Amino acid sequence: MAGVAFREATKRFGGAVALDRLDLEVGDGELLVLLGPSGCGKTTALRLVAGLEEPDDGAIEIGGRVVNHVEAKDRDVAMVFQSYALYPHLSVGRNIEFPLRQRGFDRDERRRRVADAASTLGLSELLDRKPRQLSGGQRQRVALARAIVREPQAFLMDEPLSNLDAALRTQTRADIVALQQQLGTTTLYVTHDQVEAMTMGDRIAVMDHGVLQQVDRPQALYDRPANTFVARFVGSPGMNLLPATLEQGAGGKWEAQVAGSALAVPETAATAAGGAGAALVLGVRPEHVGIGPHGTVDATVVIVELLGAEVHVACRLGDGTNVIVRQDAAAPRPAHGEAVRLAVAPASLHVFHASGARVESGAGVGHAPVPGEGATP
Ligand SMILES: Nc1ncnc2c1ncn2[C@@H]1O[C@H](COP(=O)(O)OP(=O)(O)O)[C@@H](O)[C@H]1O
Ligand SMILES: [Mg+2]
Repeated sequence: MAGVAFREATKRFGGAVALDRLDLEVGDGELLVLLGPSGCGKTTALRLVAGLEEPDDGAIEIGGRVVNHVEAKDRDVAMVFQSYALYPHLSVGRNIEFPLRQRGFDRDERRRRVADAASTLGLSELLDRKPRQLSGGQRQRVALARAIVREPQAFLMDEPLSNLDAALRTQTRADIVALQQQLGTTTLYVTHDQVEAMTMGDRIAVMDHGVLQQVDRPQALYDRPANTFVARFVGSPGMNLLPATLEQGAGGKWEAQVAGSALAVPETAATAAGGAGAALVLGVRPEHVGIGPHGTVDATVVIVELLGAEVHVACRLGDGTNVIVRQDAAAPRPAHGEAVRLAVAPASLHVFHASGARVESGAGVGHAPVPGEGATP
């Protein structure tokens, strides 16, 4: 087993930078999720580790050894793709066995390893079938078995669940986490799905346009996003972002002017953000916005979406900014078109510079209560 590291790794295609000085370590035995929108460079990062691409600058390390010039076949990593890439004319058993034959393992060792891998993934009864005789979920398990049979130093998984329906995706997600924990194999797992990332990753690395935005444990990423991109991308719906200007109101209290309304801002954040006149972006999670007479921000309800256990109320501010409010389904529901007032407790505010970077004021955010009826924030 071994860790994997990117050291200032850059990859260009023509003039375009697909990966921009990526510095990232996947610890020995860790499951690290690389998360970001389509085109942000996730697959490129995996292909650099697999040896299918070479970095233009920087280095890739596996087990502490620079592998830039080591051929793919000599890297001892196994990749699992979105398309299962099974051989249609080979049985399940032969598909799983394939990498062992390629590497010249003897017959007994091949048998033992295929039986082990098949048993681990619940495929023992299916070894004689052809891939076309399997469901999508079973095919994905064959692809996983083919990866683990090699007992590689690291797994590289590129959106392996995208072709599965929602229920199977949830199940397989849990299966992969359990398998990874059982084997303890270093895993770099790529997805654009933040729910997958939040539920699977020991840590998550968020990327945008080839640039690493933040690496942290899932809850830390949610509670303290480093910038507005991460704030929006992690969470569903993502964090509300409100352009604002800082002012010092009566009695020295700090307020942010948001679309003609005022929101109280903690003094530490206001000072760190640059004081009076500073342009900011205020972030607030949908579950931290309250609706009621105690609110201070005027808004109009534009959409009310009932999702069973919860309700998403989309509101629009005077300047056109949208704010999503997440409510319990049992709470009183505003009507479409209704004028409402939104409340946010200062402790629930995330404060960002206009550039998008988080204002580091040392104040913790994330578990503050939702301001309720009558409880003036
Ligand atoms: N072989 C290639 N030739 C040219 N451009 C490429 C190639 N592979 C990837 N790219 C470009 O690099 C960027 C990152 O792609 P990719 O790593 O596939 O992103 P992701 O997997 O996050 O969707 C994209 O802009 C993509 O168009
Ligand atoms: Mg990709």
